[in-house]
Amino acid sequence: MSNHRMKIAIQKSGRLSDDSLQLLERCGIQFARSKDKLFWFGRNLPVDLLLVRDDDIPRLLLDGVCDLGICGENVTRECLLDRSAANTALTAEVALDFGACRLALAIPEQHAFSGIQDLSGKRIATSYPGLTGEYLQQHAVQASIVELSGSVEIAPSMGTADAIVDLVSTGTTLRANHLREVAEVLISQAVLYSGTRTLDAELNRFKARLIQRIQGVLKAKESKYVMLHAPKDSVQRIADILPAAEAPTVLSLDGQPDKVAIHTLCRENVFWEHLEELQAAGATAVLVLPVEKMLA
Ligand code: PRP
Ligand code: ZN
Repeated sequence: MSNHRMKIAIQKSGRLSDDSLQLLERCGIQFARSKDKLFWFGRNLPVDLLLVRDDDIPRLLLDGVCDLGICGENVTRECLLDRSAANTALTAEVALDFGACRLALAIPEQHAFSGIQDLSGKRIATSYPGLTGEYLQQHAVQASIVELSGSVEIAPSMGTADAIVDLVSTGTTLRANHLREVAEVLISQAVLYSGTRTLDAELNRFKARLIQRIQGVLKAKESKYVMLHAPKDSVQRIADILPAAEAPTVLSLDGQPDKVAIHTLCRENVFWEHLEELQAAGATAVLVLPVEKMLA
């Protein structure tokens, strides 16, 4: 690994892996993939990809092993709490709009719950001792934290804890273990963070370019290009229906003096309801196209 290449860490296998890799590939990075290795080489751009456990990414960034990393706010906040005495700062560059989840407090389904104070004197199993401790302190509850590195959800049925604080995404894991969520500790999503290593001017420029591309991919994902035909006198009405639309391009139609073609970029998703409203306003031949890339 050379010092003149950007080291980017993503989760090797888990909730964030596919979206993280897809995002980087959409930025135009081609990787020489190797099945089992922890390390993929960027063939066309100066990028080395590290595939690691998501929980390790904040530490790799803080230690200057990686320059950019994609991980959840949950693991980052936990890592920073753990290191509170040391020099700890990670810059959140871009919130990535995937990996939504929450750190939640859950108890066995059949147990009653009247409030956080019920946990006073109880045992809470978690892989997030820092955030759990902070939460309990904020609510002035004294409970003991049982730190586990995995399979937290089975602790109550094993009799090693009375409640858990764990990550919930779809809720399948909780249901499968007959647990119910009673409080939310933290809401999280995937974020691109910068590390602490000082980059030379060339790599800094490359980093800025990459971040601009990532923002472009995110914008493109939400945006749609809409083309339609409309009566000449309803251009304004049509433009008002389209969500977050740019100034439309209005073109004349050959042999149809009363009609025009309207082309416009919508910076928000276009739903069936919008199309039905457009139709009611006289629009015909409505096409909604995905946008692949965008440079603001
Ligand atoms: C979390 C958590 C649960 C699961 C919840 O693990 O520990 O096991 O996801 O998801 P669900 O609500 O959709 O069932 P995470 O993705 O952090 O993986 P890791 O613990 O292996 O790092
Ligand atoms: Zn994890």
